[in-house]
Amino acid sequence: MTTHPASLGSPASRAPRRPAPREQLGLRDVLGAGVLVGCAIDGGLPAALRPVERKLLCHHFNALTPENLLKPGNAQPTEGRFNLRDADATVAFARANNLAVIGHCLMWHQQCPDWFFKNGGAAASRDLLLARMEKHIDTVVGRYRGMIHGWDVFNEAIAEPGDYLRDTPFTQIAGPDVIADAFRMAHAADPDAELYYNDFNIEVPDKRERTLRLLRELLDAGVRVDAVGIQGHWLLDRVPFDDLEAAIEAFHALGLKVMITELDLDVVERPDCGADVAVHHDYSVADDVYRQGCPDEVLRRQAEQYAKLFDLIRRHADKVARVSFWGLHDGRSWLNYWPGERTNHPLLFDRDCRPKIAYDAVARMLESHGPKRPA
Ligand code: XIL
Repeated sequence: MTTHPASLGSPASRAPRRPAPREQLGLRDVLGAGVLVGCAIDGGLPAALRPVERKLLCHHFNALTPENLLKPGNAQPTEGRFNLRDADATVAFARANNLAVIGHCLMWHQQCPDWFFKNGGAAASRDLLLARMEKHIDTVVGRYRGMIHGWDVFNEAIAEPGDYLRDTPFTQIAGPDVIADAFRMAHAADPDAELYYNDFNIEVPDKRERTLRLLRELLDAGVRVDAVGIQGHWLLDRVPFDDLEAAIEAFHALGLKVMITELDLDVVERPDCGADVAVHHDYSVADDVYRQGCPDEVLRRQAEQYAKLFDLIRRHADKVARVSFWGLHDGRSWLNYWPGERTNHPLLFDRDCRPKIAYDAVARMLESHGPKRPA
C-alpha cells in the first residue's frame, strides 16, 4: 500500500475568503436519499484520520471506498498470506458510522502482485490463475460477507486504445471469459453484495461502445452485474458533460445502475485525460504552479463545473446510484502525487477540511431544487 504523507502538507491558501458559514448541510443531505455520496480514503480507519477529518467524513458522506487496502497487492502481497488488518478496522469503523463500504477492487492488472501470474519462472497456466482468483475472491469477499455494499469486481478491462479488451496477464492467460469468471466467483462468495464493472474514460463514445459490448456479453451470459462505475478523473475545463449524459443513458438502458466512482477535477494541466496509474510525468518545481494555493479565478471555474456536474447527476438521480470522490479533501488526493508530484486542489474541501466555493456552488444548486428522489 502506498501512503503519501508529503501530500498532506498545507500550502498557504489563497482561497477566496468565504462568509462565515451558516449551518453547513451534509452533501449526503442535499443530494437526497436515492444517491449515495462517498469518498476514498487511504490507510486504516479511524487511525489514519485527524479528528477534523473524521468529522468531515461523517458529516458529508454515507459511503466509503478504501483507496488501496483491498487491492490484491495489499490484500494478498504474497501467495496465501492475507494482509487485511487495516481493512478489518476500516470496515468496522465504516459500519459503526453508517458508511456503506465499497470494495475496491478484486481484479485489476495494476497493483496486482506478479506471483498471481507466475509459476516458478514460467507463466501460470489458465487453471492455476483461475484457482488463485477463486481463492483470493473467496477469502476477501467471504471475510466481509454482509458487510460490504458492493465490489468493483473487475477494474479497467477495456483497452485504451484498442479493439476491445485490454491486453493483460489476465486475458493472456485465461482468455476474455476471465471477467465473467471473476463476477461469478464474487457472486458465489457473497450473493447479496452488489457487483460492479469500473473503468475510466468509458463515457467517451469509442470506449463507451466497447464497454457496452462487455456489459452486454456479461449480462447475456447470465452473470450478475449491478452497476457500471465511471471513474470520473476529469480535468478542469474538459469535463465531458455531453458524453457523460449519453453514457448514463446508454448504461442505464442495459438495466444497470450507474456510479461515478472516483470523482476529482484536476486543476493542474496534464497531458491526457486518462487515469492510467502506470503513466508518470516528471514535474519540475516550476510546473508546481499552485504550490502556494489555487488562484480564485481557477477555484471559481472549478465551482461552476462541479455545480454543472451535480446538476446533471441530479437530473439523472433515477439512474445514478452513487457518486464517490477520490479523496476526502485536497490534501488527501492522489493527484498530489500522480502522474507526478505537484500540489493539487481537485476536491470540494481544502487541506484544512474547509468547504471550498465548489462545495457552496454544489450545495446551493442542489438545495434550490430540493433533494430529488428516484421514482
Ligand atoms: C490510486 C490510488 O489513489 C493511489 O494511492 C495509488 O498509488 C494508485 O492507485 N483508478 C483506480 C484507483 O481504479 O484504484 C486508482 O487509485 C486511481 C485510478
